[in-house]
Amino acid sequence: MTKIAIFASGSGSNAENIIQYFANEAEICVKNIYCNVPDAYVLERAKKYNVPTIVFNRDELRDPQKILHQLQKDEIDFIILAGFLWLIPACIAVAYPNHIVNIHPALLPAYGGKGMYGNHVHESVIKAGEKESGITIHYVNEHYDEGITIFQAKCPVHSTDTAETLAARIHELEYKHFPQVIKEVLSL
Ligand code: GAR
Repeated sequence: MTKIAIFASGSGSNAENIIQYFANEAEICVKNIYCNVPDAYVLERAKKYNVPTIVFNRDELRDPQKILHQLQKDEIDFIILAGFLWLIPACIAVAYPNHIVNIHPALLPAYGGKGMYGNHVHESVIKAGEKESGITIHYVNEHYDEGITIFQAKCPVHSTDTAETLAARIHELEYKHFPQVIKEVLSL
């Protein structure tokens, strides 16, 4: 049995989609949701599926005796970042080499790095007049958005797009591909 932990900071629609996707999978289970925002909606979503949640602050994330220790105690094999907005500290990145995957709502290496998350990304893409955007699923190291790319998918950017309409198109791509790519990575 491969045990997954999902890290999320916000709404958690990707986290919910991943929980649903693996619900009937005998060999893969979403063990818990890790969240750095005490009132994030992802915590409500987790409750619906009886997935235990762990809420932590920045010091706890960086302290190897806290979050890393918890991951190891729960025998987590794989970490999925689904809208998680803090940098993964070196202690966790080093303990899980090629076992942490992130999704980014643009075509990296463009529109990545610190501060590039959610609608900030879409606003920058629209402002630059890009004709297409997309998603990047990549391995995670201790630098923002720099690990090896596993998968990308593209979608058009229309001249009438707002950050919200583009975000909705990107979310559809994420729901379609992210769980499948996770499954493929886990079976490597
Ligand atoms: C997703 O679009 C994800 O790609 C993005 O945050 C959104 C979270 O939505 N992640 C980043 O911007 C990371 N840099 P969700 O909470 O509904 O899954």
